Amino acid sequence: MSDFITVEKRTHYCGNLTANDVGKDVVLMGWVHRRRDHGGVIFVDLRDREGLAQVVFNPEISPVIHKEAHRIRSEFVLAVKGRVRIRPEGMVNPDLKTGDVEVMVDKLEILNESKTPPFVLDTDTDISENIRLKYRYLDLRRPEMQQNLILRSKVAARTRNYMEKEGFIEIETPFLTKSTPEGARDYLVPSRVSQGTFYALPQSPQLFKQLLMVAGFDKYYQIVRCFRDEDLRADRQPEFTQIDMEMSFVSEEEIMRMTEGLMAHIFESCLDLKLTVPFPELTYTEAMERYGTDSPDIRFSMELKELTPIVKNSDFQVFREVADSGGVVKAIKVEEGSKLSRKDLDGLTDYVGAYGAKGLAWARVKSDGWTSPIFKFFKPLEVEQINEKMEASTGDLILFVADTPSIVHDSLGNLRVHLAEKTGLIEQKDFAFTWVTRFPMFEYSDHEKRFVAKHHPFTSPVEEDIPFLETDPAGVRARAYDLVLNGTEIGGGSIRIHRREIQSKIFDALSLKEDEARMRFGFLLDALEYGAPPHGGVALGFDRLVAIMIGAESIRDGMAFPKTQKAACLLTDAPSTVNLEQLMELSLKIV
Ligand code: AMO
Ligand code: AMP
Repeated sequence: MSDFITVEKRTHYCGNLTANDVGKDVVLMGWVHRRRDHGGVIFVDLRDREGLAQVVFNPEISPVIHKEAHRIRSEFVLAVKGRVRIRPEGMVNPDLKTGDVEVMVDKLEILNESKTPPFVLDTDTDISENIRLKYRYLDLRRPEMQQNLILRSKVAARTRNYMEKEGFIEIETPFLTKSTPEGARDYLVPSRVSQGTFYALPQSPQLFKQLLMVAGFDKYYQIVRCFRDEDLRADRQPEFTQIDMEMSFVSEEEIMRMTEGLMAHIFESCLDLKLTVPFPELTYTEAMERYGTDSPDIRFSMELKELTPIVKNSDFQVFREVADSGGVVKAIKVEEGSKLSRKDLDGLTDYVGAYGAKGLAWARVKSDGWTSPIFKFFKPLEVEQINEKMEASTGDLILFVADTPSIVHDSLGNLRVHLAEKTGLIEQKDFAFTWVTRFPMFEYSDHEKRFVAKHHPFTSPVEEDIPFLETDPAGVRARAYDLVLNGTEIGGGSIRIHRREIQSKIFDALSLKEDEARMRFGFLLDALEYGAPPHGGVALGFDRLVAIMIGAESIRDGMAFPKTQKAACLLTDAPSTVNLEQLMELSLKIV
């Protein structure tokens, strides 16, 4: 048994040593980050979750230990004891938290050796993500990843503090349950006891949290895992975590203010940043018109401006035809964008092409008109009106797209962000929250040939729109809201339907037969008939929030064991085949 583990005991984390510890005898345990030999003296940067400390093996202090230190390699696990001293002049490392001290080792134990790792952990060189995921336990040793997960833990802890202080009750809901209506595919789990039947892993605790309101718990929350079998992207994982909550007897405003309070508490206590609350609020319609998306990045302006009324009678046939056929012509202004080359502009045209735009007209603004392939089609007054609408001045660039509203919004909305990133308009350290409210209740699914719920089918319509459920479902607005941070949807929620008759009307609008609705969520419909209070809630995407707080490009960098874009875990090799007996026990057969 190691003398260090049983007798000496660790006294400090490596990363926490300071000048105040000078003269103390300390015991450190950690991994070898780096080893350097300098004319007989061996220096090791020893690493633990709190950071690095320099430990020194000097042959003059102990030739035996110095000899043993020659065996040390990267990622060996060491225990050392020694005295802390100020580093000699010229040896101070201002980049390191512990950079002005070092430990003169007089006792060493190599607790374990390590094979040479498949990638180096002591530099920030680009390592392929697949290798990182396969050896995640090594990747997670990297100081950056340690900081990410420590921050994640802190955000969860601060969330619990806040929710508890606000009177919320934490209640767990089942993972082995029935399909929930969040619109993705379910992960199914076969039942052995009732063969041929399946549980679904919850896409969210939506139905249970509503039942908890019927049960009288009033303010519920949970930091909870959700499972969705959907196409994965940089900000999506098949299993992810929500900060989920639900409240009774409240309106949208109270839920939104609560959420803002939580965000302010998290940012102040974890990043030492004061957020300005309340957050700005855009309706869905405003967000689409001004930013071309329902999750706008408002860290910069470059808003979309509607030009259809100005150009509808111009001589530019493309714009005129689009306007005549019910489409729109919109543009964005790139300040000082005239300096973009023809090649740049061709690149941007290709960029919007991917979103369905048939072209990207451009105009470089000059003091006496435009340089533009479409200048010749416009009367001086039209040019003047466009410049005025765009608030464009000499040196600016105007970029136009004419098409259906959805293509125009999609292409210009994405182009706006693309250009802002390219031209350095985005201040990475900014955190810009916004609410997007009054979403449409329904969207038409070409695939299913019917309206589907945009949020979920238990979301309450705006009271004054209820009379139009039958006549104009597309125009009915929902009491639903999303929370957006730096252009990413980090939360969504709604006021729910608590009256059975409204629920039936919504099922009608969704062409959902009453018996099918009963089969899928009859238990909730029953519950609504036993005194359901008015209620509503919200769920925040915990992984997305953490990823943005740490400035990560991918949601995976804030998660310990994420999956790949193909929903695989490269570390454990899941999903994998199972043996025949397991299948037989479940009466399952692979076809
Ligand atoms: P919604 O489906 O909008 O709402 O989910 C809430 C938030 O969860 C995050 N999120 C995801 N994060 C990572 N990977 C995913 N695959 C993923 N899917 C969603 C997003 C999203 O805003 N029950 C409702 C909430 C409610 O109405 O109260 C719900 O789940 O940040
Ligand atoms: P054309 O007359 O087709 O050569 O187009 C002249 C300019 O208008 C080119 O810069 C095209 O990229 C652009 N353009 C063509 N179609 C559209 C459209 N639907 N929206 C915006 N610009 C377009």
